[in-house]
Amino acid sequence: MAIIFNEQTKTITLHTKNTSYQMKIGNLSYLLHLYYGPSIGDEDMNYQVMQYDRGFSGNPYESRNARTFSLDAQPQEFSTQQQGDFRTASIEVVNTDGSYSYHGKALDYKISQGKYQLDTLPCVFANDKDTADSLEITLFDPVSSVKVVLLYGVFEEADIITRAVKVVNQGQGSIHLRKIMSVCLDFLNGADMDLVSLPGRYGQERQVERQPMTHHIHAIGSVRGSSSHQQNPFLILCDREASEDYGRCYGFSLMYSGNFLAEAELDQYDQLRLVMGINPKQFYYELKPGETFEGPEAVMAFSEHGFTGLSHLYHDFYRTNLCRSKFVKDVQRPVLINSWEAAFMDFDDVKLVEIAKAAKNMGVELLVMDDGWFGKRDDDNSGLGDWFVNENKIKCGLHKLVEQINQLGMKFGIWFEPEMVSEDSDLYRAHPDWAMEIPGRHAVRSRNQIALDMSRLEVQDYLIERINAILDDANIYYVKWDINRSLADIWSNVLPAEKQGEVYHRYILGLYRVMDEIILTHPDILFEGCSGGGGRYDPAMLHYYPQYWVSDNNNPIDRLKLHYGTSFVYPTCTMGAHISDSGKFVPLETKAVVAMCGTFGYELDATHLSKKEQELCKKQSDLFRKYYHITFEGDFYRLTNPFKPGNMTAWQHVTKDKRESLLSVVVTNLTFNGPQEYIRAKGLDPKAMYSVNGGKELHSGSALMNAGLPINREVPEYSAFQFHLARKGK
Ligand code: GLA
Repeated sequence: MAIIFNEQTKTITLHTKNTSYQMKIGNLSYLLHLYYGPSIGDEDMNYQVMQYDRGFSGNPYESRNARTFSLDAQPQEFSTQQQGDFRTASIEVVNTDGSYSYHGKALDYKISQGKYQLDTLPCVFANDKDTADSLEITLFDPVSSVKVVLLYGVFEEADIITRAVKVVNQGQGSIHLRKIMSVCLDFLNGADMDLVSLPGRYGQERQVERQPMTHHIHAIGSVRGSSSHQQNPFLILCDREASEDYGRCYGFSLMYSGNFLAEAELDQYDQLRLVMGINPKQFYYELKPGETFEGPEAVMAFSEHGFTGLSHLYHDFYRTNLCRSKFVKDVQRPVLINSWEAAFMDFDDVKLVEIAKAAKNMGVELLVMDDGWFGKRDDDNSGLGDWFVNENKIKCGLHKLVEQINQLGMKFGIWFEPEMVSEDSDLYRAHPDWAMEIPGRHAVRSRNQIALDMSRLEVQDYLIERINAILDDANIYYVKWDINRSLADIWSNVLPAEKQGEVYHRYILGLYRVMDEIILTHPDILFEGCSGGGGRYDPAMLHYYPQYWVSDNNNPIDRLKLHYGTSFVYPTCTMGAHISDSGKFVPLETKAVVAMCGTFGYELDATHLSKKEQELCKKQSDLFRKYYHITFEGDFYRLTNPFKPGNMTAWQHVTKDKRESLLSVVVTNLTFNGPQEYIRAKGLDPKAMYSVNGGKELHSGSALMNAGLPINREVPEYSAFQFHLARKGK
């Protein structure tokens, strides 16, 4: 059992292969946090918590005259409200009597085998071979009768600990939640820590930013109704010296696709508190007597081996314990071509078949019909919500079109944007009240579309019925599920005034229900998520879709940064990456090397390519399939940082058994008569001998990792190299 309760010391320790996490039912039954980091065995870590009079600090009433116990200085497992702790709270509740107060004390605990699940929100899961255990600790406030249940999942081999939270109103009247954080982690000394996050914008998602902790609350989050382009629900707290390969790093990844907030606060004593959960903005959630609220799951990992060590933990775990799609490991993902940048909305069935025929010569296996096939949709001002095939465009009907594509030996995919409605649509004309518009006000327009009220059951049912009908009408192999605006005008016509503060969250719950009913009922369809590019690329979405469109920005040089940042937490096999016309001066070969970092496909008009270009694409598609086991199952290494000055960007995939590796280099800026450049490999077996691209000459893993490979000089701009390293012998 990976969870140990020590009766004598009242400590509870969670053990993974390399880490320990400890809490204690301490003084006056407060639940204290004692440790998270490299394994410490069964040691009681309470010795580090010093009790002394800090001057003018609040002390719980029950500690009487002892001024040394202040919650403002104690490391807590779940920071509470109005108990003299003035740091950021994990909960803010308005009690039935109107008071803002929560005094939760540890009441009991339960340890069980297996991984807990939540009723309303997606969670990671345990596979048969995993050792996973769960812990539930109940905090109880006897005055309000509000129970907080802290949930922990411990994945021993994976070195992963998850947390989630439930609030149960056991009182007689309604209470309101204004803030509920899923994770709270206190560090006794955080002055020398840095915070790494993944901010961005449309077309430039998940860039990497690092900031030293200073004495204020460093907040990252989203209030856009989705996890957003602008921030990602992931952050790292690390040693100031931590780098790609060295240093202590803590990762926090939130399984939630709506508004989120992470606050890292360095306090007056240099203690550091991290909380993460649903963003409290416009969050006011009523719990009637007997009702339970669930907060989303946070997935935590710790590594002493820098960002790479931490990324590997997340990559391995998210590849196996996040998404149940058969495309995760049992079925290879097809090379696809998407119609968007080829034709935008200007296509018909004949054009699609032409693209498919040309793409077939390029080794493409799947044609995706993107936006424009439904309702009245010749531009992006109309049609959303009318999920009926537009037979003026698809004259032969969907069924026949798919048959034609199938007859070419190819599969067929389709695009939806379920959560949106155009004002110029039959759906809006029939049900204007289904859209999120505040009465008496005009809704904010964004791409001329309005969000549907996903919290509403009829809306959910309509989408489930309509989309399932399309999916069941034809032989559809793939679905791209898009959302192309941020939510404003948060409002539901069916909720009373006092419940409008629940709409942001209820939207997400409704969305997950729709996804459950469409995605989980079509286990043979490959789903890809998309949000104006990669604006909702989060682990909850990756619970449903094995892949996500990284960005609408297909420029291969920008993609180097996009893939680099995304890879901090998400495995490269989740990254939708295509070759398109974007990047005029970048050779097709280089575009292919970049797209091979992810799921690989095309986003261009294949009929415009010359025979020679089509042949080249065929070779690239074949190479993608040849290296699939390396790039989809291997360990990923970031060899250079594209945010730093340098002449090339390089990355590498290495199979788990270290027998094969694919090392990719893109030359971004080689100057005339510049210094000789070398690229050092990582992750190889130092003693083994490797061939490079099938050559006769062998180099040891040690040579390749310590001296590296020389990069050709005086190559054309934006050249790329792929080195396939193969171990000789056993
Ligand atoms: C978004 C997506 C694109 C494309 C368009 C269609 O921008 O990111 O890939 O599907 O929508 O409208």
